[in-house]
Amino acid sequence: MSHPNAGHANESYRFVQLSDLHLSSIDRPNPLQLCNKRILGYLSWLKRRRFTHQEWILDRAISALHDLAVDYHLVTGDLTHIGLKQEFTQCRRWLNKLGTGADTLVIPGNHDLYVDSTWQDSFAAWQDLMLDDVGLVSQLKQKTAAGKLDQMYPQVRVRQQVVFIALCSVFPAPWLRATGRINQQQLMRLKFVLNDPALADHCKVLLIHHPITITHTRKRKSLLNHADVCALLKHSPVDLVVHGHGHTRTLEYLACEDGRNTPIVGMASSSSTSAHELQRAEFKLFDVRRGHHNWHISMQSYQFDSTAEQFKPAEVCVVSELV
Ligand SMILES: [Fe+2]
Repeated sequence: MSHPNAGHANESYRFVQLSDLHLSSIDRPNPLQLCNKRILGYLSWLKRRRFTHQEWILDRAISALHDLAVDYHLVTGDLTHIGLKQEFTQCRRWLNKLGTGADTLVIPGNHDLYVDSTWQDSFAAWQDLMLDDVGLVSQLKQKTAAGKLDQMYPQVRVRQQVVFIALCSVFPAPWLRATGRINQQQLMRLKFVLNDPALADHCKVLLIHHPITITHTRKRKSLLNHADVCALLKHSPVDLVVHGHGHTRTLEYLACEDGRNTPIVGMASSSSTSAHELQRAEFKLFDVRRGHHNWHISMQSYQFDSTAEQFKPAEVCVVSELV
């Protein structure tokens, strides 16, 4: 699926972001699996979500990606609806069509950790797509999914001139909440990564499921300690933040202490059947190359055309210079 440096300028690095796939179906769940908060998510799926997200749309995205010479794939969470073991397995089958651990990085969304479960019954199915190049998850003492996720992030992958820094913003949120947070230990480790001299010469791309601002987010879905995360990123900037969760196309900037403005990109669900302009299914294509003074990052949204039943490119937007 990966075609390094084929079809686009040799000096640029190209990656794609997909998000909020919600691609699983929850036919005939074991009633015992629903004796908790999952019952709400299941009812929501029965009534609405099974119609508003479609796997065949994601397959059209894969077809479009075949011609785009993509070097790397990012999936910014919420692949499932209520995080059942059978959903993780279904999603893995689709992820195998997208890429491998060498060229694909997946982070968890709040729906993937709807309630806590064992690692084996959940994220173990995607483990090679989530770990960094060292892959130490087996040494983590915590046995539950939430416990392991809390310990293992950030995950860092270096690919050519780009470093992908993955965060985990999810925890088993209370009933009727889809909030997120970055725990203090993860924030401390992130500070260390952002100031690592070995990464100073790389374009830093930060992945997080929840948006790091509250501009477009209702309180019950927000990142609880967004102010802490923004404060760290103002002091120790990255070059790009990509997130999911909002199912809406957004572009904001974070004004940093060194004078730069970091683009914060949010996107629509990649499997959405919505006809709303800002919520039509999309994937985002990014090209990164070294500029004279900073990284030159261009972004192009491929949006689903329901008449043609295929993804079509919108205009290219140079996000690193729109300030
Ligand atoms: Fe989400």
